[in-house]
Amino acid sequence: MTTPRILAFGGSLRRESFNQKLATIAAEGARAAGAEVTLIVLRDFPLPVFSEDLEAAEGLPAPAKKLKQLFLEHHGLLISAPEYNSSISGALKNVIDWVSRAESDDEPVLAAYTGKTAILCAASPGSLGGLRGLVHVRAILGNIGVTVLPDQVAVSRADEAFRPDGSLADEKLAARVKNLGTQLTHHLKKMLA
Ligand SMILES: Cc1cc2nc3c(=O)[nH]c(=O)nc-3n(C[C@H](O)[C@H](O)[C@H](O)COP(=O)(O)O)c2cc1C
Repeated sequence: MTTPRILAFGGSLRRESFNQKLATIAAEGARAAGAEVTLIVLRDFPLPVFSEDLEAAEGLPAPAKKLKQLFLEHHGLLISAPEYNSSISGALKNVIDWVSRAESDDEPVLAAYTGKTAILCAASPGSLGGLRGLVHVRAILGNIGVTVLPDQVAVSRADEAFRPDGSLADEKLAARVKNLGTQLTHHLKKMLA
């Protein structure tokens, strides 16, 4: 049987990102359930803001090519998405935009997204935990060919929720976050069987 491959990341460029910590915890659940997880940090893929002029002049920047290749190589996406002004962070949207671009005329449209399955979570110091942003992330991914699983977790008061080692102080909450990785893995195993 094919081992499910999951690409996991937080949609933030911030060094101490709560969402990166949350993605790391959810990734543990996916690994424990038998997935091969690639946990990346978006800061390692510095990208200019997407511009069609830039794309026409220079093509995809090397970090965008690398990210796109990673998306292509994985069956599932595990994304912890920060909420900015009630919506998706610019960093995450910029990645989605660059990775969505075809590099030749014979490349299928949205090749990096079509047929993928994703699961989402969010963390925010606010009381809604980034819930409003997830509505938008879910809609965007759904519109570009990604099946987004219904369950999600939004961690509110994120500034108080994590221990210094990056784990969640609330064990029940940690179990719910890990379960997202488990669910995605089980779903992919069924699809790949
Ligand atoms: C431009 C901007 C807008 C923000 N808007 C919201 C918001 O609408 N809702 C919310 O809960 N937090 C909002 N925040 C706070 C973020 O949730 C907080 O900075 C969080 O730490 C970002 O995620 P990260 O820790 O993964 O980088 C905003 C932060 C910034 C910088």
